[in-house]
Amino acid sequence: MGPSGKTVVLAVLAAAVLHAAVLCNGGITSSFVRSPEKSGDMPLDSDVFKVPPGYNAPQQVHITQGDLVGKAVIVSWVTADEPGSNTVVYWAENSSHKYKAKGSKTKYKFYNYTSGYIHHCTIKKLEYDTKYYYEVEGGNTRRTFWFTTPPEVGPDAPYTFGLIGDLGQTYDSNATLTHYEQNPNKGQAVLYVGDLSYADNYPFHDNVRWDTWARFVERSVAYQPWIWTAGNHEIDFVPEIGETKPFKPYSHRYHVPYKASNSTAPFWYSIKRASAYIIVLSSYSAYGKYTPQYEWLNNELPKVNRSETPWLIVLMHSPWYNSNSYHYMEGETMRVMYEPWFVKYKVDVVFAGHVHAYERSERVSNIAYNIINGLCSPVSDQSAPVYITIGDGGNIEGLANNLTEPQPKYSAFREASFGHATFSIKNRTHAYYSWHRNQDGYAVEADSMWFFNRFWHPIDDSTTAA
Ligand SMILES: *[C@@H]1O[C@H](CO)[C@@H](O)[C@H](O)[C@H]1NC(C)=O
Ligand SMILES: *[C@@H]1O[C@H](CO)[C@@H](O)[C@H](O)[C@H]1NC(C)=O
Ligand SMILES: *[C@@H]1O[C@H](CO)[C@@H](O)[C@H](O)[C@H]1NC(C)=O
Ligand SMILES: *[C@@H]1O[C@H](CO)[C@@H](O)[C@H](O)[C@H]1NC(C)=O
Ligand SMILES: *[C@@H]1O[C@H](CO)[C@@H](O)[C@H](O)[C@H]1NC(C)=O
Ligand SMILES: *[C@@H]1O[C@H](CO)[C@@H](O)[C@H](O)[C@H]1NC(C)=O
Ligand SMILES: *[C@@H]1O[C@H](CO)[C@@H](O)[C@H](O)[C@H]1NC(C)=O
Ligand SMILES: [Fe+2]
Repeated sequence: MGPSGKTVVLAVLAAAVLHAAVLCNGGITSSFVRSPEKSGDMPLDSDVFKVPPGYNAPQQVHITQGDLVGKAVIVSWVTADEPGSNTVVYWAENSSHKYKAKGSKTKYKFYNYTSGYIHHCTIKKLEYDTKYYYEVEGGNTRRTFWFTTPPEVGPDAPYTFGLIGDLGQTYDSNATLTHYEQNPNKGQAVLYVGDLSYADNYPFHDNVRWDTWARFVERSVAYQPWIWTAGNHEIDFVPEIGETKPFKPYSHRYHVPYKASNSTAPFWYSIKRASAYIIVLSSYSAYGKYTPQYEWLNNELPKVNRSETPWLIVLMHSPWYNSNSYHYMEGETMRVMYEPWFVKYKVDVVFAGHVHAYERSERVSNIAYNIINGLCSPVSDQSAPVYITIGDGGNIEGLANNLTEPQPKYSAFREASFGHATFSIKNRTHAYYSWHRNQDGYAVEADSMWFFNRFWHPIDDSTTAA
């Protein structure tokens, strides 16, 4: 922590003495104050939204993991003028043997918007830890990209994930993505915690902004998989104009390998990648008892084998622990349903978005309450996950800078700034996490923490936060 952090801690300690009995001697509220000025969406003629040259050129290319273990990739792209080919041609680096995989295409209408031809193709049986080139074409125009598959699933496979949420398409969004790309410890895949394009902020949810967003992020997501989580800006529920099917644009455009984890809907699913087991949940699908998501998660958690994947990471959009007045307590109902499981199965970390600020919790749980016993405060709990809110991608809605006071004790660090984070797994016992604030044109590591694995290294890591 910096010198200003120490001052804050002293102030907080003083407060702790006064309020020793109640839970309000919190952690650090960063003294860095960002101008709350919103930056607008980048205009339609911005460089980042350019349609690639050539008739019917494939655009909006993006990839995500295509199976349970990382040996398949879903390649998606859009052609605007005519359907074009559904085929992806791919080959391993240094190999002259080219393979072909055939996908399918879809299209949708949203009020008076008609999408281009949206292609999805799963390429399978890839080798681990190998660089592949792939090519998509739309008639005469071919485009070539590449990605590297993860190492084989196993306890000591090091792997670095990037973390981005609530990105949108403003100048701030562009700064966040640029900082992520320039981070020397940049991830090999992105865990994306929901709210993608913010097209729904436009009249009639102008879906042209779904297209521009996908062109904007192509420079990253065509080369490394982004693991998708659905947020509220993906719902696109507008009965006034006859659009009543939730997630219509999102689910046409972003496919995920949900069937591989026996999920029955693309909004909750899991994957293994290197030494991590990643569970994606949907804050906007039913999660109460007896619902499909509840039944799925109930069966899923016992399957996690920490000898194989020591790191258990959960992604969701709406945070459970959030000391910001913005979206305050929106995650509460899901917390009540699932938090006992997260403690029982010793989830290492939960990443959420939604709140346009940054916050990291201590390891706490709040599962003792049973309506009549009055035990309703978070308590320190070394079996509990760390909760991190990383909804600070920089979208058009601006920063959420009205923090609740006093800072609750469970809140270790919070700051209303835009940025991104990385979670860098070193081996089965250690992972290094860091958050990078967007500061005046460059990125600064503003918060960090060593994670000790819940299963292999059951030692209190809460005292080691930097
Ligand atoms: C492929 O070639 C590059 C450069 O020629 C080399 O650095 C790399 O190790 C090779 N990869 C494999 C898998 O042979
Ligand atoms: C859709 O309808 C709105 C409102 O009438 C109009 O402003 C917009 O230009 C229309 N868009 C298309 C693609 O027709
Ligand atoms: C977005 O960022 C990229 C990379 O830094 C830069 O080349 C581009 O000009 C930026 N575009 C806008 C509209 O700010
Ligand atoms: C999915 O269910 C099938 C049938 O019950 C089972 O064989 C398979 O192992 C399950 N897959 C996963 C990843 O749990
Ligand atoms: C868990 O994973 C380890 C290491 O891959 C393996 O040896 C063991 O059989 C697995 N346990 C179960 C119950 O599948
Ligand atoms: C800040 O949040 C508090 C609730 O925690 C609310 O009463 C207040 O109106 C908010 N202030 C602003 C400026 O939004
Ligand atoms: C795991 O990684 C940490 C951090 O890099 C290192 O200190 C430790 O020695 C490693 N453990 C093993 C068994 O390699
Ligand atoms: Fe959100």
